[in-house]
Amino acid sequence: MSIGLALRHAQHLLGSDRDLDVERTVDGALAEVVGVIEDLRELARGVRPALLDAGLGPALRELAARAPLPVEVSATTERFPPELETAAYFVACEGLTNAVKHAGAGQVRLSVARQGAAVVVRVADDGVGGATPTNGSGLTGLSDRVVAHGGNLHIDSGAGRGTTLTAELPCGS
Ligand SMILES: Nc1ncnc2c1ncn2[C@@H]1O[C@H](COP(=O)(O)OP(=O)(O)OP(=O)(O)O)[C@@H](O)[C@H]1O
Ligand SMILES: [Mg+2]
Repeated sequence: MSIGLALRHAQHLLGSDRDLDVERTVDGALAEVVGVIEDLRELARGVRPALLDAGLGPALRELAARAPLPVEVSATTERFPPELETAAYFVACEGLTNAVKHAGAGQVRLSVARQGAAVVVRVADDGVGGATPTNGSGLTGLSDRVVAHGGNLHIDSGAGRGTTLTAELPCGS
């Protein structure tokens, strides 16, 4: 936002003392900044990934197919409100990414199931364990996101026992 304001100020300063090249450059930069602000707003809203159109099962199987290690997927065919499916999907993405990045795992199990009034998303790897959320990291952000949905995120990750990430997201019925 402040870069946009600075550029608008520059446009204003150019005023009548016009240098067409400078003017065009400033206008172009401003247009790009406006585009980036829009992109960021959309991202912050947690845009629904197009993969979710067909539901969590197909989206998770697609994730699994792209992973560099075997991922077993078990997913309910039930559909949930879009924000909830998006939140569940992000849990799976972060869990799987962490398993690939940090765990040295041989395989991962991804599951989404309805349990009573909650959707339970679980990502379990058989790697080194020892996952801990640190300030501003992926797991902290994920926990904030899950809590914002009225749910909770549990990390079970003893050294040498692999890591299991479990998110419970209330689905209201
Ligand atoms: N599945 C896992 N197996 C082993 N260690 C893990 C696992 N997941 C996370 N960790 C450890 O916990 C730390 C915190 O994970 P977190 O996802 O919060 O951050 P990150 O993956 O390092 O960064 P970011 O998610 O922001 O890209 C990691 O740096 C890693 O050391
Ligand atoms: Mg991470």
